Amino acid sequence: MNFVFLGPPGAGKGTQAVEVAKKAGIPHVSTGDLFRSHIKNRTDLGLKVQAILDSGNLVPDDVTTEMVRQRLAEKDASKGFILDGFPRTIPQAKALEDIAPVCAVLLFNLTEEEIIKRLSGRRVAPGSGKTYHIHFNPPKRDGFCDHSGEELIIRPDDEPSAVKNRLHVYRAQTEPLVAYYRERGLLKEIDASPKGEAVFGEIVRLLGLD
Ligand code: AP5
Repeated sequence: MNFVFLGPPGAGKGTQAVEVAKKAGIPHVSTGDLFRSHIKNRTDLGLKVQAILDSGNLVPDDVTTEMVRQRLAEKDASKGFILDGFPRTIPQAKALEDIAPVCAVLLFNLTEEEIIKRLSGRRVAPGSGKTYHIHFNPPKRDGFCDHSGEELIIRPDDEPSAVKNRLHVYRAQTEPLVAYYRERGLLKEIDASPKGEAVFGEIVRLLGLD
């Protein structure tokens, strides 16, 4: 059960990966979350990548691949994993082939208009990483996480100029992976526009987890 969730920023990969990972009993490995945790803990890697994440550019392939290699070597990933946000370039996809074989790549399709609506309303709990949306998935108490009670923030890379750059970077560097995985017979596509529960049901069906 080695799955990759692929798709543009804000398509709902992280939201779904958390639930699908729970159902499948495998870890959710988000490279964005791993980088944000390094930034929060002010590690050497975190200090090195903070400006890159804030601008919406990609961290160099060698740095990202090494981080993923180490994470997937951990015991909990031995029975499978959901990779969310990796690979994001062809060299990363090639490197992943040497780390672990992929069973399926799930592509989240969403229009640019919908992506911008989702990212402009996203709020996150900085400690737990739990994600909300001011309209589509609001917390019970406005501005605060339901679980940890911490104050919700706007991710720096959800500011409009960074979103514009992230979309550009996705089209230029990540979209070629669609053809790459289609040619290898691994690609499964999903319409990411319905409500979360409906998207979840479709993923479970597509990945044979029902
Ligand atoms: P990362 O954290 O991976 O960002 P991303 O891919 O841009 O993805 P997002 O987290 O923005 O979106 P998502 O698809 O998970 O959507 P979400 O579920 O939150 O990467 C951040 C940065 O790290 C990169 O820019 C780069 O700098 C660096 N990085 C990471 N990986 C890298 C790599 N491999 N190589 C190099 N650099 C790398 O949902 C979005 C919003 O919509 C939420 O508010 C949510 O509540 C809402 N929502 C979700 N589903 C629905 C629904 N069905 N209906 C309505 N609203 C919904």
